[in-house]
Amino acid sequence: MTLDFTRRGFLRFTATSAALIAASRTATARHLFNGGKLRHAHVGVGGMGRADLGSISSHPDLEVVALCDVDANHLAAAAKLHPNAKIYADWREMFQEMATEIDSVCVSTPDHMHAPVTMTAMSLGKHVYCQKPLTHTVKEARLIGTAAANSRVMTQMGIQNHSGGNYLSTIETFNSGITGPVSDVHVWSDRPAGWWPQGEERPEGSDSIPEHLSWDLWLGVAPERPYKAGRIYHPFAWRGRKDFGTGAQGDMACHLMDPAPWFLGLKDPLTVKSVGPKPTADCFPLWSRVSYRFPATPKTHKDGVNVTWHDGGKNPAELVKEYQIENLYSNGSLFVGPKGALLVSPYEPCRFFKKGEGEVEFERVTVKARDHYHQWVDACFGRDHCTAAFGYSAHLTEVALLGNIALEFPNEELRWNPKEMRFDGNAKATKMVHKPYRSGWEVPRLK
Ligand SMILES: NC(=O)c1ccc[n+]([C@@H]2O[C@H](COP(=O)([O-])OP(=O)(O)OC[C@H]3O[C@@H](n4cnc5c(N)ncnc54)[C@H](O)[C@@H]3O)[C@@H](O)[C@H]2O)c1
Repeated sequence: MTLDFTRRGFLRFTATSAALIAASRTATARHLFNGGKLRHAHVGVGGMGRADLGSISSHPDLEVVALCDVDANHLAAAAKLHPNAKIYADWREMFQEMATEIDSVCVSTPDHMHAPVTMTAMSLGKHVYCQKPLTHTVKEARLIGTAAANSRVMTQMGIQNHSGGNYLSTIETFNSGITGPVSDVHVWSDRPAGWWPQGEERPEGSDSIPEHLSWDLWLGVAPERPYKAGRIYHPFAWRGRKDFGTGAQGDMACHLMDPAPWFLGLKDPLTVKSVGPKPTADCFPLWSRVSYRFPATPKTHKDGVNVTWHDGGKNPAELVKEYQIENLYSNGSLFVGPKGALLVSPYEPCRFFKKGEGEVEFERVTVKARDHYHQWVDACFGRDHCTAAFGYSAHLTEVALLGNIALEFPNEELRWNPKEMRFDGNAKATKMVHKPYRSGWEVPRLK
């Protein structure tokens, strides 16, 4: 079978994808019902991918059959651990050659390649675990969320804290009504904090590409640019650059903002507004503060709720003072209601504060952590369900990425029209809902 990724080939692919999905599903089902193992392929096996691969492959009912990485050193290290797996530098070749021999795929590449690999895998009927943020653009998130809703493949976004004991315990405390209807949520991260470059212009010049790296494959759907060595792009440092990463908010909001839609049942925001500095042409800014206004739900104030994101060392300092919060977590959120403020973190137990009184003890609920990776593998066998399936996590990603668009329009309240996927009255912002893919890198379109 040949998959053609040019525009014409893409049309051909779309026409045959239904048959491919059906064939692949039948193959998967027959294979699994025969007591076989889940045949797993992993794309991006260095950095977080190494940890993802370790956690997924620790499941006894899974075998790693394919490994893919554009860095031959990373690929060799993973191949040592899984010597029976076929190895690839190009994930398109992997799908072409092994489409009927793969049941599941994990995508641990830089952000700009999440959607192309995920969309292709889903089009072929593969179960997908994809790192956060699920996508690089709002439109990709919407397409993948919609496709997941219409598909039977098992999906999970890499927000492992969603299955962690702190969040699972905190939602029980929150549901006991400890704060009352929430009027404000503040979410903050200490990132980028020098972990990766932000606020910079595009580097000038070029360096020679190391032999172990395929720079063209690394660029993938992104526009071409010369390779630069050092802490600029590969590995890890790409995060702050708009062509590849999603900045501090895209990186951390999927972890830290997660409780807002989850605990409160929030849907689409009405407005989004940034009050921080504008990004440079190449990078996200050194810090940001972005406010969203959401309509009311049964868990919020009757008029709705404000959710404010802070990064780069910013936090809700006035509330911290008002509620006498000591030892504020460096990454976390604060849910504010008429009865008090609940301090939430994926890494620490929740704490409760009353205005003018400071920290107050309350009856703690302890819920055991779940294994986010094994939950997905078990779901592929029909023995569990995924708590961060794309039906949920694509929307979380969409909300986080709307904030990144707002950064480009400081102090302007953008009115989001989720049905039409546009910002009413701002065509420039609407254009940023998606991006063109590099010519020759078109991927199968999902309805
Ligand atoms: N869930 C978490 O807690 C968590 C933590 C860290 C990173 N992440 C996410 O994991 C992803 C990777 O981040 P990272 O820090 O590991 O980045 P990284 O640059 O260190 O590693 C990315 C890996 O993917 C490979 N790669 C790059 N392009 C590829 C392509 N087109 N095909 C195949 N392989 C490719 C690289 O060679 C490298 O091995 C990001 O989306 C990031 O947000 C999640």
